[in-house]
Amino acid sequence: MHVLDTQIHDTLGRPLRDLRISVTDRCNFRCIYCMPKEVFGRDYRFLPRRELLTFEEIERVASVFVGLGVNKLRITGGEPLLRRDLEVLIAQLAALGEDLDLTLTTNGALLAQKAKALADAGLTRVTVSLDSLDDEVFRAMNDVDFPVARVLGGIDAAAAAGLPVKVNVVVKRGLNEDSVVEIARRFRGTGHTVRFIEFMDVGATNGWRLDDVVPAAEIVRTIGAEFALEPVEPAYRGEVAERYRYRDGSGEIGVIASVTQPFCGDCTRARISADGKLYTCLFAVRGHDLRAIVRSGAADAELEEAIRAVWLRRTDRYSELRTEETGALRKVEMSYIGG
Ligand SMILES: C[S@@+](CC[C@H](N)C(=O)[O-])C[C@H]1O[C@@H](n2cnc3c(N)ncnc32)[C@H](O)[C@@H]1O
Ligand code: SF4
Repeated sequence: MHVLDTQIHDTLGRPLRDLRISVTDRCNFRCIYCMPKEVFGRDYRFLPRRELLTFEEIERVASVFVGLGVNKLRITGGEPLLRRDLEVLIAQLAALGEDLDLTLTTNGALLAQKAKALADAGLTRVTVSLDSLDDEVFRAMNDVDFPVARVLGGIDAAAAAGLPVKVNVVVKRGLNEDSVVEIARRFRGTGHTVRFIEFMDVGATNGWRLDDVVPAAEIVRTIGAEFALEPVEPAYRGEVAERYRYRDGSGEIGVIASVTQPFCGDCTRARISADGKLYTCLFAVRGHDLRAIVRSGAADAELEEAIRAVWLRRTDRYSELRTEETGALRKVEMSYIGG
């Protein structure tokens, strides 16, 4: 296991602690805030298979990041469970360190059949996205007519396999703001923490407008009016969710206020796209090609030096600079870079 004296800091003093790895840019949903159908329909050009990092390449890149002080790996996409035999990759990554936090974000569609294999392979926990318990609203948001019940089935299967579960809810004005209280009610007392996420201007296709954002403070007020809440101190520097607990002891919720209360100052995350580009911000326009280094036959030391150089130069703080105008910039899509 690598120790923290290898920790590197960027120009704003932020350590490199988390790595998000996108394993595919494809998805079986077309969430209107992420991969809207009119843009990502049949004609969209997804990455050809040979351009994706192989499991061995991902493992190699991840091991270099772990050597640089990363202690949390999140597998994402696109929909990561579309990547065949994902549990094989999970086992490879789990072997990189006993204390690694190894997690996965999924839409839950394939989770019921995969949960046990993922847990057995060494996944430490899972985050499942679910934007409403109302079938009509949920189907309108995923835009492929996918029912709520099957996602709930996935969540139950994950819990039965012993995986701690978080539930992610993206809130968009006029769409699912009325679903917020019901979701909080459904998961209170289950041990699954729900995290409500402000609709963000990721990518260039989701038609983001500031008016569509339901501020986290409003979400907390709405839930607090139904169930008494109190704030919880952050568990560590860089925690993205602001946490609240139910006063009656029935659990916690979180809100991720990346639009109204940006947290760039504490951002310790790097991201690898499915084709092996390193991004130091979710809102980046350009990545650094690690795949080229990996496939050139270079030694790990060279790969480590390239990653180190990128992190040491890092200046990103997009969310703190965001305006209606920056929202329209040409940024990479979240399905590609990994949410
Ligand atoms: C890009 S998805 C990838 C993993 C998986 N397909 C899923 O949906 O959980 C990761 C997370 O990003 C969230 N997300 C996608 N687009 C977003 C947006 N425009 N604003 C805020 N969150 C978004 C999703 O709801 C999900 O929780
Ligand atoms: S949020 Fe996840 S499930 Fe929805 S379209 Fe994006 S990648 Fe797919």
